[in-house]
Amino acid sequence: MEGKVVEVQAAWREGAHVDDAQYRAMYEASVSDPDAFWGEHGKRIDWMTPFTKVKNTSFAPGQVSIKWFEDGKTNVAYNCIDRHLETRGDQTAIIWEGDNPDESKHITYRELHAQVCRMANVLRNRGVSKGDRVTLYMPMIPEAAYAMLACARLGAIHAIVFGGFSPDSLASRIQGCTSKVVITADEGLRGGRKVPLKANVDEAIKRLGSDLVEHVIVVRRTGGSVAMEPGRDVYYDEAAEQVTDHCPAEAVEAEHPLFILYTSGSTGQPKGVVHTTGGYLVYASMTHQYVFDYREGDVYWCTADVGWVTGHSYIVYGPLANGATTLMFEGIPTYPSTSRFWEVVDKHKVNIFYTAPTAIRSLMGGGEGPVKKTSRQSLRVLGSVGEPINPEAWEWYYNVVGEQRCSIVDTWWQTETGGILITPLPGATALKPGSATRPFFGVTPEMVDAEGKVLQGPCEGNLCIADSWPGQMRTVYGDHERFEQTYFSTYPGKYFTGDGARRDADGYYWITGRVDDVINVSGHRMGTAEVESSLVAHPKVAEAAVVGYPHNVKGQGIYAYVTLNDGEEGDDALRKELVTWVRKDIGPIASPDLIQFAPGLPKTRSGKIMRRILRKIAEDDFGSLGDTSTLAEPAVVDDLIENRQNRP
Ligand code: PRX
Repeated sequence: MEGKVVEVQAAWREGAHVDDAQYRAMYEASVSDPDAFWGEHGKRIDWMTPFTKVKNTSFAPGQVSIKWFEDGKTNVAYNCIDRHLETRGDQTAIIWEGDNPDESKHITYRELHAQVCRMANVLRNRGVSKGDRVTLYMPMIPEAAYAMLACARLGAIHAIVFGGFSPDSLASRIQGCTSKVVITADEGLRGGRKVPLKANVDEAIKRLGSDLVEHVIVVRRTGGSVAMEPGRDVYYDEAAEQVTDHCPAEAVEAEHPLFILYTSGSTGQPKGVVHTTGGYLVYASMTHQYVFDYREGDVYWCTADVGWVTGHSYIVYGPLANGATTLMFEGIPTYPSTSRFWEVVDKHKVNIFYTAPTAIRSLMGGGEGPVKKTSRQSLRVLGSVGEPINPEAWEWYYNVVGEQRCSIVDTWWQTETGGILITPLPGATALKPGSATRPFFGVTPEMVDAEGKVLQGPCEGNLCIADSWPGQMRTVYGDHERFEQTYFSTYPGKYFTGDGARRDADGYYWITGRVDDVINVSGHRMGTAEVESSLVAHPKVAEAAVVGYPHNVKGQGIYAYVTLNDGEEGDDALRKELVTWVRKDIGPIASPDLIQFAPGLPKTRSGKIMRRILRKIAEDDFGSLGDTSTLAEPAVVDDLIENRQNRP
């Protein structure tokens, strides 16, 4: 094989779900006859009405339609809870580890059932029924999982908004899916600091300026005092006392929406990605089992937040559908110390650990000491997700955290894909540091050049997927045309991922990053257009262009070029003011890292900003600007280089 290879260790193969030969055989079967393959694996979940049809999908221009198991009926909460009660009612379903290391608890499947039924009844008493949208703006507490599953139990559609988003962002998402009910907490707690969730909800509702939101359900987390609007707001514990812990799970069609999750794209406002019931759960649970080589009795920990897709598929739905014990962590990797992750691993004897490269890189900075003082003997599989993992971080994860004993799965996927698409399988795939390796069952990657020509063999190009898989998003909420336009029009007949990749001689994929105007900050997606529109809304700003640049810890940082209105002075105070402005407007994850005041931006004669040049300057790589002859005013480039902000 080409390049550095870490072979599958005998210990990883022992007891694993598949070895290399089995992977190849299953992969071949999955792509040569998807109906037969998924018809079989579709039965891994319980169906209230069994399906007779398996795959009915089209990527054809103007007719994009994705349906899996369409005539079956099931319920996601039933599959994640009820079906386990007989065999594992007393097994821990969720281990909750609080921000404070002295706080943790175990919730059994039986307790989970009672809690979810209660939450479902509280929602039902407030008029929530099948198809209604419920917005969740929650900290990482068990009630977040209860609320998700309670919605699923009723056939209601949850839309989670990450707790780090601002009131404005929350308001536009509540409006986007017209939620009449919001579930939140008084305050969140992260790294010892309080997050004013309820106050943000109040502010968001005020900005909506309508009576759309009829009910706000407030879970008491910190007990901090918050304003409660009579008739609209209720404390969850008080409402829960009024209801029973019995609530039937509603059988819904396989294609009934399970959730909406907003995500950033290259243009416009965030899109509401819609995932449905049957195919999503089959895919989330199957990937969880095979990718992490999940085995009966394992303790599994994914460090994501339920506000992101990783939290949906790999903290809640995949693991619980598989009857696993899933750990939910409220805190951050560096509190109270940089040993926290590994202390939690030891405390709960975690076998499978799944995190993001940005966390690994930030901990690498603290050296081996904080890792080495913990045991980590329970660990068997280490996962990575959210952005390309650089080989140095991979090596550190493998050598220091896993002591060369644990396999590493670098899992490539997206909010849109519902589950992992390209990844090693621990017992099957020889690893290459920095490569997401090979496609999961049923996934057909295709590399195309800029003109859409399909490339063969080793190559570099744009990553598409040729055919549908069960976990794929079905539409953009309320805007199917935008769905077709965004994902199926660039290369007609294919799903375009927005990512660039390289395929090597062994058929391994190396994701190189986004090729569109999306940047990936600490594994979180941000549209440059969103940050730009926030900046230009500032009274002193005339124009702004935002690009990503390489950042040691975050993967990519946000670099903003800002042109001020005539007479305004660009100084450090204004830089600070603009950062605060964007944080308030969108949320802390959108804060620009570097701001360059620019008297002019490089534009073509037709007025289009040449981002390629801005990216190069932000990367401090202005020696290779390429052709600048089409610029309207070539001189602006010299000024930009002269005043660049990213200097070693
Ligand atoms: O660019 C890819 C990057 O994250 C994008 C998807 O972001 P999001 O929808 O927020 O989902 C993140 C968690 C699934 C992708 O288009 N990405 C994700 N995982 C990897 C990755 N890039 C390289 N390697 C990965 N393992």
